[in-house]
Amino acid sequence: MAEESQKWVLMVTAQTPTNIAVIKYWGKRDETLILPVNDSISVTLDPEHLCTTTTVSVSPAFDQDRMWLNGKEISLSGGRFQSCLREIRSRATDVHDKEKGIKITKKDWEKLNVHIASYNNFPTAAGLASSAAGFACLVFALAKLMNANEDHSQLSAIARRGSGSACRSLYGGFVKWIMGKDEKGTDSLAVQLADEKHWDELVIVIAVVSSQQKETSSTTGMRDTVETSLLLQHRAKEVVPKRILKMEEAIKNRDFASFAQLACTDSNQFHAVCLDTCPPIFYMNDTSHRIISLVEKWNRAAGTPQVAYTFDAGPNAVLIARNRETAALLVQKLLFCFPPKSDADLNSFVLGDKSILKDAGVESLEAIESLPAPPEIKDPSQRHRGDVSYFICTRPGRGPVVLSDESQFLLNPETGLPK
Ligand code: DP6
Repeated sequence: MAEESQKWVLMVTAQTPTNIAVIKYWGKRDETLILPVNDSISVTLDPEHLCTTTTVSVSPAFDQDRMWLNGKEISLSGGRFQSCLREIRSRATDVHDKEKGIKITKKDWEKLNVHIASYNNFPTAAGLASSAAGFACLVFALAKLMNANEDHSQLSAIARRGSGSACRSLYGGFVKWIMGKDEKGTDSLAVQLADEKHWDELVIVIAVVSSQQKETSSTTGMRDTVETSLLLQHRAKEVVPKRILKMEEAIKNRDFASFAQLACTDSNQFHAVCLDTCPPIFYMNDTSHRIISLVEKWNRAAGTPQVAYTFDAGPNAVLIARNRETAALLVQKLLFCFPPKSDADLNSFVLGDKSILKDAGVESLEAIESLPAPPEIKDPSQRHRGDVSYFICTRPGRGPVVLSDESQFLLNPETGLPK
C-alpha cells in the first residue's frame, strides 16, 4: 500500500439498470444462497429513466465499511450485504493507480474498508424493484474498484446473494436467470439472451398505482408460498420449463404475439400462486385489475396482441407495447381511464420519455380531459381520477456502465464522504 500518505481515496462510480421479469422468479430452494425453484426471464429497463448510481471508495483512513442510500446512512450488517461484500473481497486482485501513486495488493483488500453511496433516479417507495438495480450496482462497482476480473455472469451470481432479481440487472436487453443445479449455487447465474438493440421497437409504460396498503415483501411472500402452495410446485416443475423455451423463441424471433401471451399468462399465474399461498397474498388491486381488463379487451378486439402486461409484488402495471404507435394509443387509453387529480401538473404525471405524449396528442391537462373514451370501457362516464399516481414511459435498455464524469460521483473524492 502507498504508505507515504494515509490520505488517499480511490473510487469508482457505476450506473446499473432495473429489470422487469416476463417469466417470474417466485420461490427459493435455498434461502441463504438465494437459489430459485425455476428459471426466469426479464427485460432490462432503460437506465436513463430507471437506474441506480453507486459510488464505492476505499481509503486506509476509513475505519469501517459504511453505506448511504439516497443520502441517508444505512446499516451494512445484514446478511445479504455481508455476503456480497465477502464474495467480492475474496475475488479482489492487485490494483495499481499510477496517476495517484497508489498500490493495493490482493492481501491489502482484506483489511481495507469501503464507503458506498447509492442513489435511485426513481422514487424508492414506488415499489419498482429498487433492490435489483441496487445490489447489481453495488457488486458491479466494487468489482471494478477491487479489480475482480470476473465476467458479468460470475458477478451476477454474487449480486444474486443480495437479491435474487438483482442478478438479471448485470446485462442489458433480454436476460435469463438460469436456476442451476449445484447445491452451492455456482451455476445459478444470469446470461444475456439478446441485447437492447435486438428488439428496439418495444415501448414500456409503467403505471405507478396509488396504494395505501402495506405489501408483503417478496422475500416473506415467496417463503410462505414455498411452504404452502401446491400450485407453485406444479408451476416450477411442469409449467415454467416449457414456457422459458417458448419465451426464448419469441424473443429471438421478435414474435410479439407469443411474447405478450406468455408474459401475461405468466404474470397471472404468479398472482394465482400468491392466492394459493396460506395465508393468501394479494398484490394487485382494483386499479391493476382494471388495467388488465382494458388490455385484454383491446388485444381481443385487435385480433392480435398489441400490449403485454406484467405485475410484480405490488399493484403497479408494467405495460409493453409492440411499437410506438401502439404505445401512443395505450397512453391515450390510460390517461382517459386514470386522469390525474385536478391539482396535478402533466410534467410530474408522465415521467421518462415524454415524447410519447406528443405522439399521443396529449400535451396539456386540457387535452387529457377531452380524450375520446376507449371502446374497451363499459361506462365512459366513470373515470378513475387519481388511481394512478404517475406513469413512466421507457424502453428496453443497456446494462451496467462505469461513469467517469466526476460531477456524477456521490462521494467526495478527497474525503470519501457523501457530497
Ligand atoms: C415478483 O428478487 O425481490 O419481482 O430474492 O428475496 O430479494 P429476493 O426477492 P426479489 O423477488 C422478485 C420477485 C418478482 C419477480 C421477479 O423479479 O422475477
